[in-house]
Amino acid sequence: MARAMDLRYDARYAQPGWYWGTRPTGLAREVLRVLRSLPRRPRTLIDLGCGEGRDSVYFARNGLRVEGVDISRVGIDKASRRAARLGLSLRFHVGDIRSFRLRRPVDVVFCSGALNNLPRRIRAARLAHFKGNTARAGIHAMNAFVPKPYLAPPPEMDPSDSPFRSGELLGYYGDWQILDSGQVEFDCNSSGVPHRHAMDVVIAQRPD
Ligand SMILES: C[S@@+](CC[C@H](N)C(=O)[O-])C[C@H]1O[C@@H](n2cnc3c(N)ncnc32)[C@H](O)[C@@H]1O
Repeated sequence: MARAMDLRYDARYAQPGWYWGTRPTGLAREVLRVLRSLPRRPRTLIDLGCGEGRDSVYFARNGLRVEGVDISRVGIDKASRRAARLGLSLRFHVGDIRSFRLRRPVDVVFCSGALNNLPRRIRAARLAHFKGNTARAGIHAMNAFVPKPYLAPPPEMDPSDSPFRSGELLGYYGDWQILDSGQVEFDCNSSGVPHRHAMDVVIAQRPD
């Protein structure tokens, strides 16, 4: 069951306009380049913690069959309305990445900005579930916020968020081929207070 802290994005998404904008994230653009370079083009993608759907819509516009999942009903409703306006047939639904189960193998599991909502004690099991339900030669594209001693904690950070240790995300993909990985730092103004984030990023491929 969702707790009050889980629903903090509802108020943000209820504001007029788009909390995160409508342009796709850098990770979405990068993973699309990777997908286009693969000999067998992936067809299905799930966007975990899709928010208002900016990346889901981008992937659907680029030919993927997309499912978007988020705990915020407000975000999901907004994403669904935008997709309908654009004439795209995406499947958006409310779900909790801490317990949500994939029912059939998906070609691409994408998660931008939401992995920190997985408490540390269930993280390995959850990532193992998503990996185990990814098609052969399928792709995971993930990022996770990592704290840095020289960066102030982001103002929108909630006590329920679980930071990843620097390098931790890559460790979950020791048995997959790493197509790209690294750490990025970027400025953010999402809460109206300028701040800077550091994130670990991994794009990995399941062995065929
Ligand atoms: C930083 S936002 C990123 C949203 C989106 N990926 C984007 O980049 O526009 C994190 C998202 O994770 C969602 N979220 C938080 N906890 C979640 C959970 N347990 N299950 C599913 N989504 C969750 C929030 O509602 C929010 O939309």
